[in-house]
Amino acid sequence: MGTGGEYNPKLLGIICNWCCYGGADLCGVSRLQYPPHIRLIRVMCSARVDLAHIFRAFLHGLDGVFVGGCHLNDCHYITNGNYNALGMVKICKKLLEHIGINSERLRLEWVSAGEGVRFANIMNEFAPGIQKLGPLGSSEGIDEKTLRFKLEAAAKLIPYIKLVERERLRTPRELRASSEPEKEYDKFFNSEETNRLFYDAIVSKLVISQVTSLLREGPLSTGEISEALGLSPSEVSRQLNISSRQGLVRYDAGLKRYVAA
Ligand code: FES
Repeated sequence: MGTGGEYNPKLLGIICNWCCYGGADLCGVSRLQYPPHIRLIRVMCSARVDLAHIFRAFLHGLDGVFVGGCHLNDCHYITNGNYNALGMVKICKKLLEHIGINSERLRLEWVSAGEGVRFANIMNEFAPGIQKLGPLGSSEGIDEKTLRFKLEAAAKLIPYIKLVERERLRTPRELRASSEPEKEYDKFFNSEETNRLFYDAIVSKLVISQVTSLLREGPLSTGEISEALGLSPSEVSRQLNISSRQGLVRYDAGLKRYVAA
């Protein structure tokens, strides 16, 4: 809370050394104003920002995370790392939405070293936007315990998610050559095919991971699991059937509840 009792969001910015950091620096030396609630971490390229960093930030109570890189095709490395950052953020936003977190809490922007004004404008939009949403979990209607539980379940799956991303959700190389690569990335990540893959390979694993973590704390019925996770009973039943077949959970007829196997 601020001194006047107003809520001040806790924000983290992870920005690349060669462009966005230069933009932030220029913003500072030009004495442009932006809200002071953001802490900046400098990395050599936006490609260094990992899904794990973002989930760790949210697990440590940050209310919003900003990722800043060089404009597309201006990355200082031959691998054009900012395209990796773009793909990573798209997947991260999908994951956040899936666990019930407003994906506007994560923002990716390109800022060159000469764009101090642009940096200030972005910050002057991002910080009040998060301030309006309130502390992490509040606008989402998720209590602290459930929020931690969901974030931890997703964080545990990150190595697997990165494997799926590399093997099955790799963005076609030709999208980078398009005149509007960001639009093409949007199309790719919102396509039916990607959504199906995302659901089959990631979402169902995430639900199973949440269900088994819950059951480790005690036996639960389908209804109780669905209430705890904010998922429909039919979705929970579906995932319980899969988990039973995989030997991860079992139905205890005496307790009339599922238990971790
Ligand atoms: Fe800035 Fe790669 S060096 S995004």
